[in-house]
Amino acid sequence: MSDFSNQEKSGLYKAIYTRRDVRSHFVPKPIDDEVLARILNAAHHAPSVGFSQPWNFILIRDPKTKSLVKESFEQEKIRSSEQVDEQKKEKYLSLKLQGIMESDINICITYDPSRFGPFVIGRSSIPETGIYSVCCAVQNLWLAARSEQIGVGWVSILSNEALKQILGLPEHIVPVAYLCLGHVNEFAEKPDLETANWLPRLELKDVVYFETWGQTHSPAWNKIHDLVRTNLDYAFK
Ligand SMILES: Cc1cc2nc3c(=O)[nH]c(=O)nc-3n(C[C@H](O)[C@H](O)[C@H](O)COP(=O)(O)O)c2cc1C
Repeated sequence: MSDFSNQEKSGLYKAIYTRRDVRSHFVPKPIDDEVLARILNAAHHAPSVGFSQPWNFILIRDPKTKSLVKESFEQEKIRSSEQVDEQKKEKYLSLKLQGIMESDINICITYDPSRFGPFVIGRSSIPETGIYSVCCAVQNLWLAARSEQIGVGWVSILSNEALKQILGLPEHIVPVAYLCLGHVNEFAEKPDLETANWLPRLELKDVVYFETWGQTHSPAWNKIHDLVRTNLDYAFK
């Protein structure tokens, strides 16, 4: 396998920096089956603990199924609003946090802890690595979709119990991600929650530590210390 050319590298970074969680910008145009197959195959090539590939992808287009999931979203949104500070509650309730009905396809990505088990290399000390693997598949899907001009929105304001019932999941199967996919009229430049002044993007320099927790300076790391202060993503957008 050859190295990446500069153009290929730029393509990957472009997908990373211009990927968005999409809720409001879906348009009613079906996703081409070949495009969908490529996106699913990208997800299926994610890393997984012990090569356990513990995911399934449930493709959903039936509006009846979608509206049952949407009902769960509405209930959970109200329930979760009780945890929001009084001053922010109204704003929270006004945020658009899903595009279940407007998106062409919903995909529930599940975790099967029994796949190739019970012993899976690498999962014996940290059982959560199974779920982490499914999240790697989600990210592959998200980036591949972006490169295909398909928007993806992750909806987690849902009851897993409701999802299990609606989708007929066996007891041991865990729903990890409920995603809405579709063509869009735009990919916003910034996260919707940043634009809505809900939260700002942290600066890279504030989340990089050197050698031990909390250490933000170290003579041995001077160069990278300076580099993480620069705006590295600008060139790729
Ligand atoms: C695990 C997970 C759950 C999320 N759940 C929701 C959700 O329920 N509703 C929503 O609108 N966005 C959800 N998001 C999207 C995030 O809000 C979004 O990724 C974040 O604001 C950054 O925006 P960006 O993805 O456009 O960069 C979720 C993202 C992740 C990774």
